[in-house]
Amino acid sequence: MRSIALAAALAAFGRLELVASTPTPTEPEQPNKRASLPTVTASGNAFWTGNTRFYIRGIDYQPGGSSAMKDPLADETVCQRDIAEFKKLGINTVRVYITDNSANHDTCMNALADAGIYAIIDANNPLFSINRADPGPSYNTEYLQSVFATIDEFIKYDNLLAFFSGNEVINDQVQSTLSARYVKATTRDMRQYISSRGYRKVPVGYSAADVQDNRMQLAQYMNCGSDDERSDFFAFNDYSWCNTDFQVSGWDQKVKNFTGYGLPIFLSEYGCTTNGRDFGEIAALMSSEMTSVYSGGLLYEYAFEDNGFGIVKIPSVESTTVNEQSDFAKFAKALADNPAPSGNGGASSTTTSAACPTKDANWLVDSTLLPAIPDGAKAFMSSGAGAGPGLKGSGSQNAAGTSTGDATPGSGTVTATASPSATSSKSAAGPTTVGPVDKAPFILTALVVLLTMTGTLLL
Ligand SMILES: *[C@@H]1O[C@H](CO)[C@@H](O)[C@H](O)[C@H]1NC(C)=O
Repeated sequence: MRSIALAAALAAFGRLELVASTPTPTEPEQPNKRASLPTVTASGNAFWTGNTRFYIRGIDYQPGGSSAMKDPLADETVCQRDIAEFKKLGINTVRVYITDNSANHDTCMNALADAGIYAIIDANNPLFSINRADPGPSYNTEYLQSVFATIDEFIKYDNLLAFFSGNEVINDQVQSTLSARYVKATTRDMRQYISSRGYRKVPVGYSAADVQDNRMQLAQYMNCGSDDERSDFFAFNDYSWCNTDFQVSGWDQKVKNFTGYGLPIFLSEYGCTTNGRDFGEIAALMSSEMTSVYSGGLLYEYAFEDNGFGIVKIPSVESTTVNEQSDFAKFAKALADNPAPSGNGGASSTTTSAACPTKDANWLVDSTLLPAIPDGAKAFMSSGAGAGPGLKGSGSQNAAGTSTGDATPGSGTVTATASPSATSSKSAAGPTTVGPVDKAPFILTALVVLLTMTGTLLL
């Protein structure tokens, strides 16, 4: 009874959450009971299904690589063939880099769900993406329309785990750090779009390249500033294990450095091939040495390409069978031998932000201000993005409708939602530029009210 009364009290104060929004709720959302798989939420520095900690035990999935520009989740023959292999592996997540937002994904997404597998979707693709060589013009209305259409297409599936707002846009060329502002603006816009459209709060974050020189600065940058500008998680690609161990790989340092980071972290790619692979990474990721900071990772990769990382060879695109390579059984064994630990793994229940990094030789960003959302893209928040452009045409990198000027921190805060069920939104309507300073009194008031009510209810 007590919990019911408290839930009702919290529900009554739901509108405050819209004003004092944080990147992640402090309590895990309850899973959707109707779902074939419980939905995954980000809370504190971890992922959860209800009150159960969720670890990503997955693989990167893009047969043909990025040059093929083919969506494996839009082709039933392809996905059914591969899902049979995923079941043998015992994975719980796939990441797909390139999807077609004009295609239907019901068959493949539902087949994944039936196999107990979640999907992490990159919201951009080679045609619709930020151009690291000239990022400003590529952050435009047409780009965001495609990104938002990808959200519309995938967010309806309960086994959609998260969206990436970019992949390795910033690389080992220091000049590319200047594109970080545009990636971060995209993250902000995606999170605002998800809330504005009344969608489930699917986590949004960036997948960083394995760059030693500015890994920490980039991570801090993605988790600094006002709440609307911060990510829901951080992920990076890591190729340093190379059949060694926790110390030799330097993973011990990557735990130390990211301790207290304040958001969920996982490896969006791992699997160095230099010394062959026994996938000792999995034992490390599932051990108490890492679980308080990391939430698992994704092996790079499923399909064998010229770069030699894949664990199955696919004779032809439409082939109905694959040839498992020797790493296939080794990876399956490593997963089976190292199940997800029980308990909370030492996760922290609160999120914290980081200080914004300052400009130096490895990090050229000299402002904490982000570009404002392009004027033409603002209407998508209330009207929706419309039909996705798919993987055709010349893409958005040189399209018109770019950003004009910097945003006021807090301008990505959601003040009204499109969902008819969010009846409290009318009372939450207010200026669209509620900044962190304006928020403080609301947070304090909410806290005092909440503590008072909780105290009362507990008596
Ligand atoms: C850990 O942080 C220190 C200090 O910022 C940095 O010098 C070092 O390269 C980092 N190590 C790793 C593995 O990221």
